[in-house]
Amino acid sequence: MEADLIIKNIGNLVTMRGTNGPRIKEEMNNIEILKNAYVAVKNGKILDIGQGHIMDKLIGKNTEIHDAKGLTVTPGLVDSHTHLVHGGSRENEFALKISGVSYIDILKRGGGILSTVKSTKEASFDELYNKAKKSLDIMLEYGVTTVEAKSGYGLEFDTEVKQLKVAKKLNENHPVDIVSTFLGAHAVPIKYKENPDEFVDIVIEMLPKVKELAEFVDVFCEEGVFSVDQTKKILQRAKEIGYKLKLHADEIVPIGGAELAAELKAISADHLMAASENGMKLMAENKVIANILPGTSFNLMKDYANARKMIEVGVAVSLSTDYNPGSCPTENIQFIMQLGSLALNMTPSEVLTAVTINGAYAVDKADEIGSIEVGKKADLVVFDAPNIEYIIYHFGINHVYRVYKEGKLVV
Ligand code: NIG
Ligand code: FE
Repeated sequence: MEADLIIKNIGNLVTMRGTNGPRIKEEMNNIEILKNAYVAVKNGKILDIGQGHIMDKLIGKNTEIHDAKGLTVTPGLVDSHTHLVHGGSRENEFALKISGVSYIDILKRGGGILSTVKSTKEASFDELYNKAKKSLDIMLEYGVTTVEAKSGYGLEFDTEVKQLKVAKKLNENHPVDIVSTFLGAHAVPIKYKENPDEFVDIVIEMLPKVKELAEFVDVFCEEGVFSVDQTKKILQRAKEIGYKLKLHADEIVPIGGAELAAELKAISADHLMAASENGMKLMAENKVIANILPGTSFNLMKDYANARKMIEVGVAVSLSTDYNPGSCPTENIQFIMQLGSLALNMTPSEVLTAVTINGAYAVDKADEIGSIEVGKKADLVVFDAPNIEYIIYHFGINHVYRVYKEGKLVV
């Protein structure tokens, strides 16, 4: 069959092919890298992959041929945990943070998430859309072709829906694919401070009403925010309704978030800086992905998650930005990848696995993205790098040369 597009002269083609599930243990490190390779694309999907001479049958009179100049090509990157849609910014809390006031104390004073809730309520749909679009453009420039986006800055129906509708419209209009998550239980609004269980019931009532707008439900399970019992109540109901589950788990205090994620068979548990070893083992047994967010540790100036231990016990690890206006105001996934090595001690191969195929599993889209194999979407990044180590080693800059989304050149 003739291809629409052939990308030839790829120095290193990182395919991420070869497993039937998320990559675990050595699979995260032992990845396929084809030298002198090409990728053929038809109707936005991968038609063929090969090395050396390009087969004649792939080339017709309408086939475009692009030269990758001997550079490194990977699957489109997946940022599987972001708070993409929100109003305002929180640089006004920066001085407090560096003077040592904790993230949870800022929240308890009515700042933090609650301050972004106010800005998000005040922002119009178009303001939220334009701000999120600007971030999405940056993410794409850094090689991200799929993004998970959470609500959670409304904490009441109308604003949660406004956020989810912004994500829906962006998904329709922007080249980046968006997977939506309802995070109605992101913080307890001040007026429910004395009766948080009442607010838990309000979130539960919202679940069926936002079903058409979100694929996942997430809860910020943390001491001083939502307890394990409250989280369980919300997520069990969400599961009954047909949502897939995620948790902000054991970010600051080890209250059993990882264990709960395992019990509920969530798709992922995220953060996990304080997760217990038993929690990690239970996650491995129940195939829950550990979505680690090292940019948040960096920016909160806190401990990092124990990625090495998680990989050792057989948890599939993914990495994401956690892009949000408080704990991690960056869209730069390449910096997160560099932290994956420099702060989490993951190898460049493990890091690449974490932001491609394992990230695809973390958003439950691995049947269509996350690896370069026949039939999957032709989401591809050409890095201006002679090998994958270089992308991690030379830090703080953008290494992207080109990005293809479903076979179209978008960067
Ligand atoms: O993933 N930890 C909870 N939620 C976000 C931060 C949200 C915010 O501070 O605005 C996180 O870190
Ligand atoms: Fe988050």
